Amino acid sequence: MTHVRQHHPQVVAHRGASEDAPEHTLAAYRKAIEDGADALECDVRLTADGHLVCVHDRRVNRTSNGRGAVSALELADLAALDFGSWKTRDSWRTRDEEPDWEHRPEDREETSVLTLERLLELVADAGRRVELAVETKHPTRWAGQVEERLLVLLKRFGLDSPASAAESPVRIMSFSARSLHRVRAASPTLPTVYLMQFVSPRLRDGRLPAGVGIAGPSIRIVRNHPAYIERLKRAGHQVHVWTVNEPEDVDLCLDLGVDAIITNRPSAVLDRLGR
Ligand code: G3P
Ligand code: CA
Repeated sequence: MTHVRQHHPQVVAHRGASEDAPEHTLAAYRKAIEDGADALECDVRLTADGHLVCVHDRRVNRTSNGRGAVSALELADLAALDFGSWKTRDSWRTRDEEPDWEHRPEDREETSVLTLERLLELVADAGRRVELAVETKHPTRWAGQVEERLLVLLKRFGLDSPASAAESPVRIMSFSARSLHRVRAASPTLPTVYLMQFVSPRLRDGRLPAGVGIAGPSIRIVRNHPAYIERLKRAGHQVHVWTVNEPEDVDLCLDLGVDAIITNRPSAVLDRLGR
């Protein structure tokens, strides 16, 4: 069944089409682009030798055949690992159906560690507008280096200083208000998203940290506090919700008029939206 409303939220592929293909790999992002996602979400961390790579966890243990913290490994160490085969193990399946993706070990680049630079190239070559939502992970540990490297990289692609937030194909997300503040100080027109796992009493009235335009509540907040979402909207903020995988949650997001649905299942959400 489709659940169509006048309002058209963006569909954002969380870690790529990460239900079908291994998260944060070229394979997952290519699949998301093929599926028709409007935007791609990725987490970024710094390697020991200063490269920004797309990895969610502090360690590589869950999503590769290696071990250790990303921050303690060099890019060459990460490049020697396989970030794909874990996904084909039954224990990681989230659905009974076969995933709509086949792991071919010969396509090494498809399941290697993904640098943010390579992801930006993929987006640039997509042949249509595909937006990118980059999440800075644990940025306090590096005291500003993640944001600094991120802005240098975005500059190389001409994406660091958009004419306005509305026109920017890139936005920066974080649970850390300090990280977003660093980004805004360097690039005031780059849109920023404040991620929330719970509603802080300080922000209950719908305000966000200074200068941040977009709220990023979890789907649990949306389910439990729909009035808060309405408050955010009334305060003039966009609302980008994560991680929305169930049809009834997609419908709830539509009913509340959220602006972006961040999902591991972009094709299923697009179907639900009648797109
Ligand atoms: O899109 C925001 C969401 O990704 C935040 O949670 O843990 O999946 O990075 P996490
Ligand atoms: Ca994330």
